[in-house]
Amino acid sequence: MSTIAILSALPQEQGSLVSALQHAEKITHAGRTFWRGTLHGHAVVLALSGIGKVAAATTTTALIECFGARRIVFTGVAGGLGANVQVGDVVVAQDYLQHDMDASPIVERWLVPGYPQIRMACDPALTEALLAATRFTVERDSSQIDWPSLGMEARHVPQVHAGLIASGDRFVSTAGESAVLRASLESAGHAVLAVEMEGAAVAQVCADYGVAFAAVRTVSDRADDGAHLDFLQFVETVAARYADHVVHAFLKSL
Ligand code: ADE
Repeated sequence: MSTIAILSALPQEQGSLVSALQHAEKITHAGRTFWRGTLHGHAVVLALSGIGKVAAATTTTALIECFGARRIVFTGVAGGLGANVQVGDVVVAQDYLQHDMDASPIVERWLVPGYPQIRMACDPALTEALLAATRFTVERDSSQIDWPSLGMEARHVPQVHAGLIASGDRFVSTAGESAVLRASLESAGHAVLAVEMEGAAVAQVCADYGVAFAAVRTVSDRADDGAHLDFLQFVETVAARYADHVVHAFLKSL
């Protein structure tokens, strides 16, 4: 039985998965905590990615080298960049790029030198299963969420998107920066849905090792300087709930 790693960006997303783990074993390695056990009959290992690309790459390497992970699923939050990607929506990654990679005197902008293409693809079968679990969860859970308590419309109907996510070592929090990011990527044919800080690094390590990778991100902000929701309340009320329920539905479906 090959091990499936569940990587969480935030501790709030991991909490109830750890509680649900059977035969749980806690292991400390590389300054990180890993939880090994079984969930829905699958051998799993749970870890927090750490924030930023280097931390996430180290965690991913440990998951593969030390815990034998052959499939990795990542949950977290992201800033919405696509025109119709709104707070409360969920994005399932089909591929990733690093928006802050620029060795353009040597190679094309955004290309990681030594790799064949700018966009690193997620595993199609794992992504299909994650997308189905995400659609099921969002449809079931969204009517149970108290959106007005988060400053959102009561009739808010969250959408599930699938496509390109960009990662970089920067929290994008001005309208100017997100407009430049979106426009420069789109003009090069990369229609980007969301931005976060880790996924492309995990995709790159998984590509190096031939490990299957899929990722889902709940949109917590519009990557701009508009009024931000209470981030912690959003994570606890929406993102952590989605992450937990998506992972359970996903594992049950395998
Ligand atoms: N994660 C959640 N929102 C983000 C943003 N605006 N930029 C980068 N990472 C994020």
